[in-house]
Amino acid sequence: MTEIKKVGVVGCGLMGSGIAQVAAAFGYNTVVREVDDERLAKGMAAIDRFLSKGVERKKLTADEHEQILGRIEPTTDLSKFADVDIVIEAVLEDLEAKKKVFAELDAVLSDEAIRCSNTSSLCITEIAAATKHPNRFVGLHFFSPVPLMDVVEVIPTLMTEAELTKTVTEFSRSLGKTPILAPDRPGFIVNRLLVPYLLDAIRALECGVGTREDIDFGMKLGCGHPMGPLELLDFVGLDTTYYIANIMYDEFKENRFAPPPLLRRMVLAGHLGRKSGRGFYEYAE
Ligand code: 3HC
Repeated sequence: MTEIKKVGVVGCGLMGSGIAQVAAAFGYNTVVREVDDERLAKGMAAIDRFLSKGVERKKLTADEHEQILGRIEPTTDLSKFADVDIVIEAVLEDLEAKKKVFAELDAVLSDEAIRCSNTSSLCITEIAAATKHPNRFVGLHFFSPVPLMDVVEVIPTLMTEAELTKTVTEFSRSLGKTPILAPDRPGFIVNRLLVPYLLDAIRALECGVGTREDIDFGMKLGCGHPMGPLELLDFVGLDTTYYIANIMYDEFKENRFAPPPLLRRMVLAGHLGRKSGRGFYEYAE
């Protein structure tokens, strides 16, 4: 089995920063790359903020906060990934962007390095097939907020070496996560079940089954969910959900994956949820 000592994370947005933070928190020297200094600083500030809040909540000490930050090397230069044992790509959800990142990584990484994508919806096989070493490629899907969500999906393709799947499964355990094995089909396991539920909540709102508050309180208090579906949609991002739903609908051609008209219109209007200040609810800037 490949021994994992150093982790590379490509992308320091919401998911990438969370992944880099968790890797560093569990003792890995971690290099994280963004395309420019501004985005890199924003991602590192998000990590710092989360850790500071953790100190306030007495989840970690101020020393641990500093040690975790000290294990993260922020960079805009992919050549810093030459000695990483595993790379986790978490750039924007766009097939061409991801292929480009892996083509650049192919020129830098060792042949043995493990390549992972954190895509939530794209076909892992398609990304892997475009790389030099598709046998060293596996999907590794984290959930948001990464430091607080305990599960990850491990998604091998028909080309993934069996040993590699085991290594990545063990690696995710070493990050304090519970790995589940998922097939390379749109939505893997969790989004395959979650997305139709979220879309149904929008349909319910659209046809007057309940108010946004009653739908959300009903599912929170009636089913013990931490967030109601409309609140969760705002949290995940309406554009992200719309994107995932379209990919699922394109592949399966089942109506339950079809984005409802209201979702499309909210995305077109720029009501994307928390990130834009407005979705099903309004958020202070
Ligand atoms: N540092 C350390 N711990 C922290 C922390 C921090 N900065 N912030 C929060 N925590 C801990 C808290 O201490 C608490 O732990 P405890 O129960 O042991 O005390 C726990 O996290 C919960 O914190 P809060 O009480 O402040 O917050 P909430 O209870 O409101 O929970 C939440 C926040 C965890 C986000 C919860 O609302 C939740 O689970 N929501 C659902 C999230 C979800 O479904 N995510 C998946 C989305 S789908 C996805 O990502 C897939 C993609 O492909 C679309």
